[in-house]
Amino acid sequence: MHGEWQKVDSIAEFLLKTLGSAPDIAMVLGSGLKDAAFGLENEKSISFADIPGWPRSTVTGHSGVLRKGRIGGVEVLLQLGRVHLYEGYPVEEVVRPVRSIVAWGTRNVVMTNAAGGINPWLKPGMLMFIEDHLNLTGRNPLVGANDDARGQRFPDMTDAYSRNLRALLVEEASRMDIPFKMGVYAGLLGPSYETPAEVVMLRRLGADAVGMSTVLEAIAAVHMGAEVAGISCISNMAATYDGPKLSHDDVKETAGRVTEHLTRLLVALTGKLRRAR
Ligand code: HPA
Repeated sequence: MHGEWQKVDSIAEFLLKTLGSAPDIAMVLGSGLKDAAFGLENEKSISFADIPGWPRSTVTGHSGVLRKGRIGGVEVLLQLGRVHLYEGYPVEEVVRPVRSIVAWGTRNVVMTNAAGGINPWLKPGMLMFIEDHLNLTGRNPLVGANDDARGQRFPDMTDAYSRNLRALLVEEASRMDIPFKMGVYAGLLGPSYETPAEVVMLRRLGADAVGMSTVLEAIAAVHMGAEVAGISCISNMAATYDGPKLSHDDVKETAGRVTEHLTRLLVALTGKLRRAR
């Protein structure tokens, strides 16, 4: 773990050198969401490949770039693309980007993902604000020696997903008539989609949506004291015996269609942050 924190710190220093001071808020955009058309003022960007120590993604649908700039006076970082456990990366590499961004000094982190809807209230194209998660990956980024200067050995997860940020998202989505629900996100290892029987199991466990990211990054960011929000873009209904077969292309295509709502919502969130300061 000691060596891992050195890597995190050296990325944070590199970001400070190349992109300047830490942004007020970082937004991680996953599968199919990377085309979000954010207009940033004073934009600076850097591709993952040019950041020493930053893991590089192999899955299609993920470009790898950091964009930093202002939206109405608020400094925003967009992380376009992430790496996943299912690509074969160890858990510390999956969470290294978010740790580096928080170590840089960012206090607010919004994690987005594409997810399969389990709760019938959810429909493809809707947003789900994550209230809580089930970490079913079988991993935890905090395993190993703890550095008490970074966070607690046994961090509380009662409010892992910030009530404050969620309230702002609800307020803005309601104001803009963007369809959303709140719910529990189940994070699985993947990369195979769930079987119908697994989807039944997840429903009984209390999951409203299912995906293959976010939970480990959220745990790592909460451990370091960041405020975390999670937004799932419901790209499909999770597998059922009589439902359609799932394809990554369809997931990306629907996620892409939600991007417009997601972008408007995230821009509105930055406006709220500005007023809250
Ligand atoms: N299952 C798991 N991950 C997903 C899904 C799904 O149905 N859709 C998008 N990501």
